[in-house]
Amino acid sequence: MDIVVMRAGALLVADAAHLAGYWPALLTAALAAAVAVREVLRRRTLVAPPPPDRLTEMSRILATEVAQRRRSEVMLVSARAQLGEAQSQMINRLRSASALRDNETASHTDRVGQMARHLALLAGCDAEFADQLALAAPLHDVGKIGIPDAILLKPGPLAPAEWDVMKTHTTIGAGILMGSGLPLLDLAAEVALSHHERWNGQGYPRALKGPAIPLSGRIVALVDVFDALMSARPYKEPWPLSRALAHITGEAGAHFDPNLVRLFMDQIQDFVAIRERDRDEEAMLGADQALDWEEMASAQVIPLPMR
Ligand SMILES: [Fe+2]
Ligand SMILES: [Fe+2]
Repeated sequence: MDIVVMRAGALLVADAAHLAGYWPALLTAALAAAVAVREVLRRRTLVAPPPPDRLTEMSRILATEVAQRRRSEVMLVSARAQLGEAQSQMINRLRSASALRDNETASHTDRVGQMARHLALLAGCDAEFADQLALAAPLHDVGKIGIPDAILLKPGPLAPAEWDVMKTHTTIGAGILMGSGLPLLDLAAEVALSHHERWNGQGYPRALKGPAIPLSGRIVALVDVFDALMSARPYKEPWPLSRALAHITGEAGAHFDPNLVRLFMDQIQDFVAIRERDRDEEAMLGADQALDWEEMASAQVIPLPMR
């Protein structure tokens, strides 16, 4: 722009010299040059950087904003951690409440959580989901809180009408866990509702079939039955690994998701290792001696009565 202004000044000089002669032209040229220089100076002033004190003020404001943003990020991370901790606390307290009514042992539900996490990772789920499932899976039978003692603690196989009541532990559990809007509790509700569905559509409570069954429920169904088969109960010895695996593979595509069975069998040593890790602790506590007919029937260790 400065060049344009200077050029305009020069043209003005040329015109003046042509029209008015030499001296008037020089005078006109001087005036034109002065106008041009003043215009240049004016424009430079407009785009000139702010004085140092203004720069200092701007950088102070910027630094304040950055600091505020950092503080907000720290608070957000802290709030997320607190929410995660609150959800974990809630899950653990529900587990404690459930343990008062359920025959399943704490070590069994712990292992179901660990195995569910491992199978989820093998199935390609991300680590965050797998970690959440590890916390949610142990609550799969929390709905047994709502089953009457006469049925829940009955020392023997259940009559068909009693089975109908026992099956409601899935919907009762989901009812306890759902509706909070908290992702971990929502996942636990999903597991509670779907862990007795079967791949072939013959499970309960909704008789869902194949991939319509939530992946969380399919995963927990498999590891829950595996751990139950491998555990001692008052009415049965632990099954040998070969027998348990024969049962699992035989149920691929019937009770269990065949893809999950394949992944499980490919890495069976990992699942056995999870069981081994708990064995000493179990022996010390005398755990896994509880009676759970519902679980055994689910695994078809005892036949399900006709509905
Ligand atoms: Fe169950
Ligand atoms: Fe179980």
